Amino acid sequence: MAIEKLGVVGCGLMGSGIAQTAAQAGLHVTVREVSTELIDKGFANIDKSLARLLQRGTLTAVERDAARNRLQRTTKLEDLAGCDLIIEAITEQLAAKRELFRALDQVCRPQTIYASNTSSLSITEMAVATRRPECFVGLHFFNPVPIMKLVEVIRTIATDPRVYEEVAALAGRLGKTAVRTSDRTGFVVNRLLVPYLLDAVRALEEGVAAIPDIDQAMKLGCGHPMGPLTLLDFVGLDTTYYIANIMYDEFKERRFAPPPLLKRMVTAGWNGRKSGRGFYDYSDPENPKPMALV
Ligand code: CAA
Repeated sequence: MAIEKLGVVGCGLMGSGIAQTAAQAGLHVTVREVSTELIDKGFANIDKSLARLLQRGTLTAVERDAARNRLQRTTKLEDLAGCDLIIEAITEQLAAKRELFRALDQVCRPQTIYASNTSSLSITEMAVATRRPECFVGLHFFNPVPIMKLVEVIRTIATDPRVYEEVAALAGRLGKTAVRTSDRTGFVVNRLLVPYLLDAVRALEEGVAAIPDIDQAMKLGCGHPMGPLTLLDFVGLDTTYYIANIMYDEFKERRFAPPPLLKRMVTAGWNGRKSGRGFYDYSDPENPKPMALV
């Protein structure tokens, strides 16, 4: 079965990026959010991102319009009934995700493939909530989705190998490189990235260097596009704290334990770029200033 009709559930940062990328690649995409307000906000982000791609010459105006015409918005789950593949990108709560997939089972054909964009929750625990664990995979995209080239394609012990290959091939059609991985908490990227980010916070706590110096060291010393504290602000401190706790619960290893400073910042609501404050102050977004934290 060729995947032509895609459903995306959730139109936040990740869902809107996934929907946009798929529409640019020629797929027909229906995006579902819980309210008109949220879906409109997500589509405004898609328009902004398409405009950036047009401006940098990655996309022509004709291609932008074609992609836009392949995108439908809805607040009804039933409108996803005809989809070949549905990618879930809602809030990172296992109970909410299991509930969503159970509801999708009531409206979708038995052969519709389900995928979750979770970064750290168990794909197996979602798959067993459905009547089709063999048609269930993980598809983990990276932020910003239209730019980042990687997708982790995750199989569980119950995933049908043909379904897995079909989804891995789709990643290529989306212009991404698929990395194949199994359902182990954090998959490949977060298993390596999260301890690195947490170590950067520990280095700051221990007075090894100041915020801009830690960032410069990894940018210039290792060729990373962003230093770790800037990246934490970009990903969201709350998101990283949440992922780290899940990984710590799973592996009980110190390297995944969130440092106290990260916990205090999340408690204070200093979640990074999206909340205006994190390791940097974004009052002037073009010129972030390091915060006085330790
Ligand atoms: N849509 C369209 N275009 C975008 C975009 C978007 N959402 N975001 C950035 N761009 C474009 C910009 O327009 C810009 O284009 P030009 O080169 O033509 O100017 C280009 O991308 C670069 O952007 P900027 O100039 O704004 O800034 P930059 O050079 O620092 O690049 C970045 C931005 C691509 C985000 C880069 O800093 C980067 O790669 N950072 C690391 C991101 C990363 O590690 N992401 C993974 C996070 S982990 C995750 O997502 C998973 C998880 O589970 C937590």
